[in-house]
Amino acid sequence: GEQEKANTKEETMTTFDKIKEKGKIVIGSDASYKPFEYHNAEGEIVGFDVDFLNAIGKELGIEVEFVDTAFDGIIPGLNANKYDIAVSAMTITEKREKAVDFTEPYFNAGQVIAVMEGTNDIKTTKDLKGKVVAVQLGTTGDLKATKDIEGIKEVKRYEKITQAFIELKNGRADAVVNDLPVTAAYIMENSDVKMVGKPFTEEQYGIATREEDNELEKALNDAIAKLKENGTYDEIHNKWFK
Ligand code: ARG
Repeated sequence: GEQEKANTKEETMTTFDKIKEKGKIVIGSDASYKPFEYHNAEGEIVGFDVDFLNAIGKELGIEVEFVDTAFDGIIPGLNANKYDIAVSAMTITEKREKAVDFTEPYFNAGQVIAVMEGTNDIKTTKDLKGKVVAVQLGTTGDLKATKDIEGIKEVKRYEKITQAFIELKNGRADAVVNDLPVTAAYIMENSDVKMVGKPFTEEQYGIATREEDNELEKALNDAIAKLKENGTYDEIHNKWFK
């Protein structure tokens, strides 16, 4: 009967169809990553990614809703249909490409080392030998510290990057490995912390979609291209990175 028909319709509708029908896209994001996504004093989730996705939403004629999620579980959550896409300053990596699809890159970043002002013996990744390094769980910084950089004494992994920085400040970690724009933003508010050396990775952020959602991915890519063309992307970039 009618219910069966409704069920069949639900099953054959793509994520993009459902988004258009609801007029809203739901986005998984770890909102503790200033300036990309974080809670402001009013408790709202704001940042570069939020403005960027709102601009994309406007292009597509849909509303945008961010849902705060632990970064480490963001890809499993996407594949479990907890949200429609994931936007979280997320680096496009080969490993993640096996589980999800990514749009065209929309931001370049790299890993940097941060230490306390006055630390003189850490300048490159080689100097992390014998040191305690704090990272955010499940990030590319975590992967570098855990798998690639040799001789680290201990990698301390936290759900949020803000907790890793607290360990550094408390003297329980010698260094933090993290994305440059986020570490730079942290240092602007914490002048007792400094960055050392140059970024030692090249990374690009993408929007993650479920592998079957090709239509949605294409719509997102078209919107990204449009925003890059018409100056909206630059406007948002200038607002957050002056
Ligand atoms: N770009 C890094 C990665 O993809 C860190 C991203 C962390 N993002 C966040 N919202 N906490 O692994």
